[in-house]
Amino acid sequence: MQDRERWSTRTAFIFAAIGSAAGLGNAWRFPYMAAQNGGGAFLIPYFIALITAGIPLIITEFAIGHKFQAGAPIAFSRIKKGWESLGWLTITASFVIITYYSVIMAWVTDYLWYSLKAAWANAPKDFFFGKVLQISSGPGELGGFSIPVIIGLILAWGAIYWCIRNGVRSVGKVVKWTVPLPVIMLGILVIRALTLPGAIDGVNFYLNPDFSKLLEPKVWASAYGQVFFTLSLATGVMIAYASYLPKKSDITNNAFITVFANCGISFLAGFAVFGTMGYMAFTKGALVSEVAGNGGIGLAFWTYPEAISLLPFGSVIFSLVFFIMLFTLGIDSAFSLIESIVAGLVDKWGWNKKKVVRLTCLVGFIISLIYATKGGLYWLDIVDKYINNFGMVAIGLFEVIAIGWLYKSSKLRSYFNPISEIKLGRWYDVMIAVITPIVLGGILIWNIVQEIIDAINGKFYGGYPLWAIIVGGWLMLAVVIIISVILGKIKSQNNLGRKAN
Ligand code: PFF
Repeated sequence: MQDRERWSTRTAFIFAAIGSAAGLGNAWRFPYMAAQNGGGAFLIPYFIALITAGIPLIITEFAIGHKFQAGAPIAFSRIKKGWESLGWLTITASFVIITYYSVIMAWVTDYLWYSLKAAWANAPKDFFFGKVLQISSGPGELGGFSIPVIIGLILAWGAIYWCIRNGVRSVGKVVKWTVPLPVIMLGILVIRALTLPGAIDGVNFYLNPDFSKLLEPKVWASAYGQVFFTLSLATGVMIAYASYLPKKSDITNNAFITVFANCGISFLAGFAVFGTMGYMAFTKGALVSEVAGNGGIGLAFWTYPEAISLLPFGSVIFSLVFFIMLFTLGIDSAFSLIESIVAGLVDKWGWNKKKVVRLTCLVGFIISLIYATKGGLYWLDIVDKYINNFGMVAIGLFEVIAIGWLYKSSKLRSYFNPISEIKLGRWYDVMIAVITPIVLGGILIWNIVQEIIDAINGKFYGGYPLWAIIVGGWLMLAVVIIISVILGKIKSQNNLGRKAN
């Protein structure tokens, strides 16, 4: 048995964790979520979600990885016999996420090229849907591949593979660049945005609190979903990364640093995006709410390019800065998902890591081709919604049950406190055993009830047909569960006869 790989320095680990957390979810998802869910008031549920789920869970995942020195499946099998499948759930969920995340990276890659000549000219929306995605009429029509997306996808997977080819050694070197660089670029974009006329209206739209939204459960569900996604929780990433820490190593402070850096990046991104929207509204004599459109993916790929094209000078430079920022933000999130999968497989079967990395990237690339079809966007949208709203929250719930009830949070705390710079009190035990399970259980039940009510009313997510929701949503989740249970049942050298502690 070879020695476990190690991060070269503490900074390498912290950068890798921040790199995973800060991604596409920070630059467009967060600002859009905030704007749609009560603006400044969204920060309240977001903050509460951080305290009641995000922070306790990231500390827990760091501690599990460090203590059990393994990726999620073996780590959970050591926590409680028979719970290995929970680890595999995080791994299969990672696989689902990377297959579509890589496609968004493919679009970003294409846009690096398009930025050079502002290829979208006066019609960014038509350009995105018509020329890049070549969008079909609906999920029922895959309509062959979009060539630009395929090219971007090959480049994106090539870059992901290149970064991770030598495990944490190459990752440690890459994140030295891919973490500070987007922050600098974001700084440039914020300054540019806030010095434009009309920026203040955009910022008002972003931060102006609408407290009535706090009464809508949907806003709370969005806040918890966003916190899971942004901190890369319930995917085994943080467990795998922490398993490469040396024996004597801080846990809690590393977790706090990761959370603050990640959330700071999100908050700043809102100023860049909405300041620019304010300017666009100003030049068009329209309201910010009108120009910001319905946000989501469109925000990065057509609303923002359109706003940039209206700049008095430097459109090419600023759109390049924007897409380089997105690329460098996204790449380390993308390869962290691969690392989680690879750690899971290698730790259980002891296979050659380099070969597993190659194979995982190859299989990931092949499956991601589904989303590179002309109907791919519809499937991406459905899968993203169901894996996040149901999959991740459920996995998080099982994680806290496993630690809070079966292993005992006080026991985990007495493991990480002595090695950590910040010592946690008993509140951590109560949080993991009682509060986090209650809130996550509540969110999950609410999501399911809402889904049933919508189904009874014949309303399906995004207006898609029922069969597409069943295939991309429920069937996808069923396959994730079945594969995880099977993988958890297979015996190997490493999960045989291990003690629980
Ligand atoms: N945290 C990343 C983002 O906000 O874009 C996305 C992500 C990466 C989610 C890794 C989950 C994960 F394991």
